[in-house]
Amino acid sequence: MEKEHSDLFTNETERQLYYIEKLNAVLKEKEALLGRKVTCHVTTFGCQMNARDSEKLLGILKNAGFLETDDEENADFVIFNTCTVRDNANQRVYGRLGALKSIVKKNPDKKIALCGCMMQENSVIEKLRKSYGFVNLIFGTHNLFKFAELCYRMYEEGEMIIDIWDKTDEIVEDLPVERKYSFKSGVNIMFGCNNFCTYCIVPYVRGRERSRNSIEIIREIEKLAKDGVKEVMLLGQNVNSYGKGLENEISFPELLKEVCKVEGIERIRFMTSHPKDLSDELIEVMKSSDKICRHLHLPLQSGSTKILTAMNRRYTKESYVELALKIRNEIPDIAITSDIIVGFPGETKEDIDDTIDVINTVSFDGAFTFVYSKRTGTPAAGMDNQVSEEFVRTHFDRVLKTVQDNAKAQAHKKTGRTEKVLVEEINEHDSSMVTGRLSNNLIVHFKGDKSLIGTIVNVKLNECKDFYYYGEMIGDC
Ligand code: SAH
Ligand code: SF4
Ligand code: F3S
Repeated sequence: MEKEHSDLFTNETERQLYYIEKLNAVLKEKEALLGRKVTCHVTTFGCQMNARDSEKLLGILKNAGFLETDDEENADFVIFNTCTVRDNANQRVYGRLGALKSIVKKNPDKKIALCGCMMQENSVIEKLRKSYGFVNLIFGTHNLFKFAELCYRMYEEGEMIIDIWDKTDEIVEDLPVERKYSFKSGVNIMFGCNNFCTYCIVPYVRGRERSRNSIEIIREIEKLAKDGVKEVMLLGQNVNSYGKGLENEISFPELLKEVCKVEGIERIRFMTSHPKDLSDELIEVMKSSDKICRHLHLPLQSGSTKILTAMNRRYTKESYVELALKIRNEIPDIAITSDIIVGFPGETKEDIDDTIDVINTVSFDGAFTFVYSKRTGTPAAGMDNQVSEEFVRTHFDRVLKTVQDNAKAQAHKKTGRTEKVLVEEINEHDSSMVTGRLSNNLIVHFKGDKSLIGTIVNVKLNECKDFYYYGEMIGDC
């Protein structure tokens, strides 16, 4: 009966909307028994892409009738949206699962689902089957759109459900999304990655690069703007190769120009830019529109050409520096931030010196510094020149200090200026203040109340605390 019914649908979106309704009916029965709403809690690990996926999960959950709660321990349904980019991300998930084990023992009706990048690894699934049998539902990155259907089955069948796909060509549009912020939103423009940097597991767990149709993207952004969204963050592992493989190919800079035309959108951000594909056209488009934020995240990974080659990054120390300085020259008020890995196989003190040299030459406004993590199945994991922990201990702090010194120096340059700020939230430590972000992504705290949230105001940057500012509001924009 189920099958016949679901065969009637013309597309996957309709099919999933049907399962949201079915799940809603199941939850209504549960509500009647419990005398309250059925609650859910989603925890997100990893990057912006995962954060956006979690908004999709929550959109489905809320539409199906779940009530979101902060209380993981007492929630009826807990979902971990996982990351596997570095081993510590995996360990955190196992730690949290371990803590849930005894809670589930006391409350066997509690449901647990795991999804996201970590689930795309066979070894993880084996381990979960063996040691975490209390988990109810496991699915991966390629079939997230099936969440409603899988949840419905979870409640109906009672057995552990594992549904992992190796790949997909499908992009399912128009499922419900529950945004974390009313005034800003991530927008996926592409999925997957084709770059195969030798240390990185993302291409294996997110699959090949697929761009969304630009018409769909603009349609989504127009809808967001109508909904009050002022800032969009265009998301992809390498936004500079957007459009490749699409029939009526448009480039990333062309897409940006289209986004700039959307009325109501006042700020546009994007991430991540791979240095090998960053075009002059992009720099021109960024220059020509002040809607496009003065921030570019341009991961360096290493400043040594030898290591960059081994990483398969396809640029050199010199070409990176040339590109970054060209951008600084063309767009003087831009913030350039980066990602850096310390401890890649074969790395020596001289390679680290090169990295430090690039950090100082480009003067990054900020950078995430990561300890290299060996990821099973990646080419780098098989390299026989892995470096010692002691090497990493010695050199990580050197890199971090250089990053921090440069970030501080860059931040201080804005003291005394008045800048446009998008107000994001009430200050965490002082409720008489609000916290907002400059176009270049710097944070500023200033006196204000919740009526300012989501508005763009002029703020004078009075006092730099190295990585953020205290300021005062000068007026509306
Ligand atoms: N697509 C983005 C990066 C996504 S992953 C890009 O190429 O810019 C985010 C960051 O995690 C990477 O930039 C890299 O610095 C870091 N990373 C990825 N794999 C890693 C590993 N095995 N060990 C340590 N850091 C890693
Ligand atoms: Fe990983 Fe490289 Fe792809 Fe970024 S570009 S996701 S670092 S493989
Ligand atoms: Fe992690 Fe997957 Fe993002 S591995 S960094 S959540 S793409």
